[in-house]
Amino acid sequence: MEKYKVGIVGATGMVGQRFITLIAEHPWFELAVLAASARSAGKTYEEAVAGRWAMEAPLPEKAKSIVVMDAVADAEKIAGIVDFIFCAVDMKKDEIRALEEKYAKLECPVVSNNSANRWTPDVPMVVPELNPEHLAVIEAQKKRLGTKRGFIAVKSNCSIQNYVPALHPMRDFGIEKILVCTYQAISGAGKTFARWPEMVDNVIPYIGGEEEKSEQEPLKIWGTVQNGEIVKATEPAITAQCIRVPVTNGHMSATFVSFKKKPTEEDFISRWAAFKGRAQELALPSAPKQFLHYFTENDRPQTKSERELEHGMAVSIGRLRPDTQYDYKFVALSHNTLRGAAGGAVLLAELLCAEGYITKK
Ligand SMILES: NC(=O)c1ccc[n+]([C@@H]2O[C@H](COP(=O)([O-])OP(=O)(O)OC[C@H]3O[C@@H](n4cnc5c(N)ncnc54)[C@H](OP(=O)(O)O)[C@@H]3O)[C@@H](O)[C@H]2O)c1
Repeated sequence: MEKYKVGIVGATGMVGQRFITLIAEHPWFELAVLAASARSAGKTYEEAVAGRWAMEAPLPEKAKSIVVMDAVADAEKIAGIVDFIFCAVDMKKDEIRALEEKYAKLECPVVSNNSANRWTPDVPMVVPELNPEHLAVIEAQKKRLGTKRGFIAVKSNCSIQNYVPALHPMRDFGIEKILVCTYQAISGAGKTFARWPEMVDNVIPYIGGEEEKSEQEPLKIWGTVQNGEIVKATEPAITAQCIRVPVTNGHMSATFVSFKKKPTEEDFISRWAAFKGRAQELALPSAPKQFLHYFTENDRPQTKSERELEHGMAVSIGRLRPDTQYDYKFVALSHNTLRGAAGGAVLLAELLCAEGYITKK
């Protein structure tokens, strides 16, 4: 099969590097354009990431000699080459919004890791297993933008990618309230220990903007499509504390939850085992076979042993037990730059291709 030509905007960053490793091996997608800031433009990719390649895997041969383009100045040229772009850039929110809209208006679909467009009402924020029906708003978005094939679709924040999937199959019990504490890896800030030495042997109880995202984004995921917009859910009530911990990759969460109609522990475990979403139905290349894995051992899941489960695309859950103030508590873990960032975006792009929203030019 002829592959989709893919551009990676923000290719030199932490998420961009993940994209490179995933697309270099992908059965449907091929690296056509790598773009970043004017600082990197004109260098080969190997030169541009010299001294800051942060992946465990070596830099893929295919990427080394590609000359990096300027994501802003070369937008028109890039949009002319590729079938769609992934976007993960560190810029001001209004600049990101303008950049993503520019590509969409150049008839280039944008699959974004950035938060800038997550609350645009006609931009779907999709976890393929949870809310694929939200892609329906793309038609309304294209009408607003005046485009034929260009649009923006986003993935949600990395912090919510474990407790929201774990709670999703329990929604018909009426989730009333959630209290969640997240323990987030340093790669979530685009950093390694070498570049962030104060994180060694340290915990920082603040991640800018993260608590609001962790409380609000689940309500968009659990919202409904109405008149060409996504209307966010009004419940459950969610409160979050987000903490940076000295871990390279893998966000963990500790969740407390109460329901209108209290399920049994067996209800949780059987639903987690049986859960399948659209990504599994379509057997998308990056979809984990089993999305939700429950561990019965008291000391699992652990970051080091479980974060790579199913190529870092599965969610690991453990320690389900009754609580004295909420109905239940449990922990969950997911890989923040795979499922939580680049991997989640690749899976979303696969869904968009499989459902006909992204086509080859
Ligand atoms: N890390 C995660 O786990 C994670 C998870 C979910 C979402 N995200 C989001 O993904 C985005 C990228 O995060 P990251 O951790 O990969 O950041 P990062 O490592 O700091 O990388 C930032 C990228 O943006 C590029 N860039 C910066 N200014 C630019 C400009 N003016 N024009 C074009 N490109 C520019 C950089 O290019 P140069 O190298 O040329 O400077 C680099 O490629 C952010 O919006 C972040 O919130 C990250």
